[in-house]
Amino acid sequence: MANVVVVGSQWGDEGKGKIVDWLSERAEIVVRFQGGHNAGHTLVVDGKVYKLSLLPSGVVRPGKLSIIGNGVVFDPHAFAAEVEKLRELGVDISPDNLRIAENTALILSLHRELDGFREDAASNSGTRIGTTRRGIGPAYEDKVGRRAIRVMDLANAETLAGKVDRLLTHHNALRRGLGHAEVSHADAMAELTSVADKVLPYMDRVWKVLDDARRAGSRILFEGAQGTLLDIDHGTYPFVTSSNTIAGQAATGSGVGPAAIGYVLGITKAYTTRVGEGPFPTEQDNEIGNFLGERGREFGTVTGRKRRCGWFDAVLVRQAVAVNGINGIALTKLDVLDGLDEIRICTGYRLDGKEIDYLPASQSAQARVEPIYETLEGWKETTAGARSWADLPAQAVKYVRHVEELIGAPVALLSTSPERDDTILVTDPFQD
Ligand code: GDP
Ligand code: IMO
Ligand code: MG
Repeated sequence: MANVVVVGSQWGDEGKGKIVDWLSERAEIVVRFQGGHNAGHTLVVDGKVYKLSLLPSGVVRPGKLSIIGNGVVFDPHAFAAEVEKLRELGVDISPDNLRIAENTALILSLHRELDGFREDAASNSGTRIGTTRRGIGPAYEDKVGRRAIRVMDLANAETLAGKVDRLLTHHNALRRGLGHAEVSHADAMAELTSVADKVLPYMDRVWKVLDDARRAGSRILFEGAQGTLLDIDHGTYPFVTSSNTIAGQAATGSGVGPAAIGYVLGITKAYTTRVGEGPFPTEQDNEIGNFLGERGREFGTVTGRKRRCGWFDAVLVRQAVAVNGINGIALTKLDVLDGLDEIRICTGYRLDGKEIDYLPASQSAQARVEPIYETLEGWKETTAGARSWADLPAQAVKYVRHVEELIGAPVALLSTSPERDDTILVTDPFQD
């Protein structure tokens, strides 16, 4: 019996939410370990749609414990709004089924504002990242800079004032430099005081909760956000998010040892998408891209932005298999490829006249690589809603097998629609 980590193996939006929801039936605990409300995870259960950003995707199942780990950056306003929205949809949320690590860093209004100021300024110089403007980067900077306000600080008014001083010294210097008004101590304190009651009931010693759960034999599902190519170290830097999104982060971002992680499941879209700026070797800015975008409904859950679309890139996913230690993948959105005459897969790159089989680390090389494609025959039958391997057309099976071969990892799960139960189980990650 293994604990399972779910990670995105591309640039996010691979369908992690759907798969985590499906897998959470088999786990007692679901833990978010990085990112924040920049994530947008869509679940569809019997036609009912749930959009989650900050809360773990296990929260919609009764009887499961959801945990927001210390590796997350936590916006208390977004949290309160999401809890409210889910309650309206009939989801019970209370400290009985949700905990937040006491050592989680907060995202405050000044982080969100700074994210926006920088993106606006960068638009003029053409160096925009295309962030979600949620304050993710600035909040992680403050955490690493040792001036963050953390969840536990909300419980201690005496020490909070000094921490706010320290934070504002830094932020007000930046704000002055960027030509924006300063934040007053009173306003920052008022913001923190106003959210304390909504957050503190959920605060817990998460490392201890997880340690006790492990000793009792409970199964834990770690839910990654974003994707491997958005990882701060291993992604397409600087066009990345500000956290480690890969499987190793599940341990540090929640407070368990690396041996607690038994199986790494890479969620992998049957083609490729990306939101925001940055290199995308297999991008199809043409009718194929439009076809994938329309059929796949590729619009961001968080910002509503149109996602860029392109062919499956086996080079990237093979690299993701390596840096995450992926044991198996959940291949999603296979149905979106239904009806295409031909399907292309990128198997390598050409860089400055040479063939390479990896994504180079430098920004300029990433922008220059040209994909080398293989072309496969498509299929005319529909795979949408298929619930068994036997329902798949022969050419679709061929495509899946070829993907496995190229990336060096087996398909453990296959998803054929947004709906929870339109999922084919090949290998149970918890039993592997
Ligand atoms: P996440 O960020 O990785 O959780 O992915 P998102 O939820 O942002 O984006 C994935 C989108 O694809 C959502 O709208 C899902 O409902 C949808 N989806 C997930 N799996 C499938 C699938 O197998 N087929 C189709 N057609 N849609 C899917
Ligand atoms: P899920 O969990 C896709 C992208 C943004 C931008 C970059 C940095 O739904 O897969 P940030 O706000 O994090 O500083 O933005 O990262 N990005 C995502 N793209 N899916 C996500 O999450 C993303 N979270 C951030 O578009 O390019
Ligand atoms: Mg998403």
